[in-house]
Amino acid sequence: MPIRSGDDQPLRHVAIIMDGNGRWATERGWPRLVGHRRGAERVKQIVRACPDLGVNWLTVYAFSTENWKRSAEEVLGLMKIFRRYIEREADGLSAEGVRMRFIGDRERLDQKLQDLMRGIEARTACNARLNLTVAINYGGRDELVRASARLAQQIASGQLGDRRPTERDLQDCLDTAGHPDPDLVIRTSGETRTSNFLPWQAAYAEYEFTQTLWPDFTPDTLAEILDRFGLRKRRFGGV
Ligand code: IPE
Ligand code: IPE
Ligand code: MG
Repeated sequence: MPIRSGDDQPLRHVAIIMDGNGRWATERGWPRLVGHRRGAERVKQIVRACPDLGVNWLTVYAFSTENWKRSAEEVLGLMKIFRRYIEREADGLSAEGVRMRFIGDRERLDQKLQDLMRGIEARTACNARLNLTVAINYGGRDELVRASARLAQQIASGQLGDRRPTERDLQDCLDTAGHPDPDLVIRTSGETRTSNFLPWQAAYAEYEFTQTLWPDFTPDTLAEILDRFGLRKRRFGGV
């Protein structure tokens, strides 16, 4: 059963800014990468829980265009976690009916990771039980620049004829083409900012900020947040 808001709008798409891995590890006196590994375990658990919680689209923010500022050790460690996640989860995700996709600029990622990403996207392309999208080297502004360039090319090549470009035209040039807009964006770890995540797509999303650090975020935490969505009135500018 799909979840609905207080004014009966369906919740189709949940997006999560998974924050707090580093603090979770530091609080315990462990290296930050231990927190990232624990965070990846949480992703598996949340992915598995989504269909039963009534969530059909899940997008998670794994690495931003700004995260390259971190130490080489942390960046390389994260890339290794992404490669391993895809290698180890491929069979399970396929069997569970998960369609996996990626958004973000892939060009800066290493070739092996790019190949794994393309491979699992192709392998799971016919699945529909859960649409899982992972944002890697994703930045909303970077995405908008790349989308604008694509749209400019379409205009220059005469694809639009003599009509003016619409919101839909730009939307179709985004990495998320074909995704419904997120209805709910969750950020863990107590920070109340969006950090360049889905600025176009989440223009009318509901937001939930929780103090929970991502490695402590469980399916029960998600279920509580989804329950609160049922109390919201979305209005969309109406009355
Ligand atoms: C989120 O956790 C994961 C990534 C950004 C890759 P952080 O690594 O940002 O954890 P904190 O915010 O430093 O605790
Ligand atoms: C946002 O978290 C990016 C991801 C969760 C991948 P950050 O920890 O990088 O964001 P800031 O630095 O707090 O804005
Ligand atoms: Mg952080």
